[in-house]
Amino acid sequence: MKNFETLLWEQDGSGVGVLTINRPKAMNALNDKVFVELQEFIDTINNDQSLRALIITGTGDKAFVAGADIKEFADFSSEEATKLSLRGQNVFQQIEELGIPVIAAVNGYALGGGLEFALACHIRIASPNAVLGLPEVSLGLIPGYGGTQRLPQIVGKAKALEMIMSGRFVKAEEALSIGLVSKIAEGDILEEARGMVKPMLKQAPLAITKAIEAVKESGKTNGFEHEANLFGDLFSTADFKEGTQAFIEKRKPEFQGK
Ligand code: CAA
Repeated sequence: MKNFETLLWEQDGSGVGVLTINRPKAMNALNDKVFVELQEFIDTINNDQSLRALIITGTGDKAFVAGADIKEFADFSSEEATKLSLRGQNVFQQIEELGIPVIAAVNGYALGGGLEFALACHIRIASPNAVLGLPEVSLGLIPGYGGTQRLPQIVGKAKALEMIMSGRFVKAEEALSIGLVSKIAEGDILEEARGMVKPMLKQAPLAITKAIEAVKESGKTNGFEHEANLFGDLFSTADFKEGTQAFIEKRKPEFQGK
C-alpha cells in the first residue's frame, strides 16, 4: 500500500486491516484529498486477496470523522454541491459493497458525512465518548453522502427524520439503544472491533461476500430472488463442498475462499 497524506493503513497477519482517517487538526473532516485517497485505497484493496476484514476509524480520541469539510464547500454553487454529493455517495457505496466485513470503530464525533461514512460500513462499534448525528440542517443543508437513505434503513424512518430534522447529537448509549451501533467498547475499541471480526474470519469467505450482497438487497422488490440466486451460486464453490463434508465428517472446515 502506498503512503497517503490523509489516511493511515495497517494490516495484520490474519488479514485484518485498519484504515485511519488522519486529519486531526480538522477533526478528520472529509475534504477533497481524503476522497481522492479513499478512492485510491479502495482500488488497491479490491485487488488484494489477503485482506479479510476492514476496520475504519479516525485519528485521536476526539473524532471518528466530524463530517464533510465545511470550509471547503462554503462557496460552492448548486452544481458543484451536487457533484460533491454524488462523489461522496459513490465512494461510500463502494465501501458498502466491499466483499469483506467492514466495521466502523466510532471513536468520538461521527457527524454529518462522518456518520454517513459509518452508516456505509456493515457494523458500527462505538467508544463510550462517541457522539453521532446528522447536523446538516444547522448549516441549512440535508445530509448528502447517503444519510437520508441509510439512516432510515438502520433506525427506522421516524427516528431517522427526528434525528435529521433536529440535527441533534446522539450519545453512545442512545445509539446502542436505537440500533445505530451494535456495541459500546468497554476497552480498546480497535481490539474489540478485531474481536468482533474474529469469528467471521473462520467462515467461508465467499459465503461472507454473498451474505453482504444479499443483505444489501433486503427490502427491495427482487431481494428474495437475489437471495435465492446467490444461495444457488454458492453450491458450486469448493468451500461449500468442504463445509458440508467437514460437518458430515465431524471436523472443522478448512476454507480456501474458492
Ligand atoms: N469541517 C471543517 N473543519 C472542521 C469540521 C468540519 N466538518 N469539524 C471540525 N472542524 C475543525 C474546526 O473548524 C476547528 O478548526 P480550527 O482549529 O482551525 O478552528 C477544529 O476542527 C477543531 O474543531 P472545534 O474547535 O470546533 O472543536 P470542538 O471540540 O469545540 O467541537 C465539533 C467539535 C462538535 C465536532 C465541532 O467541530 C463541529 O460541530 N464540527 C462540525 C460538525 C458538522 O456540522 N458536520 C457536518 C458537516 S456538513 C456535511 O457533512 C455535509 C454532508 O452530509 C455531505
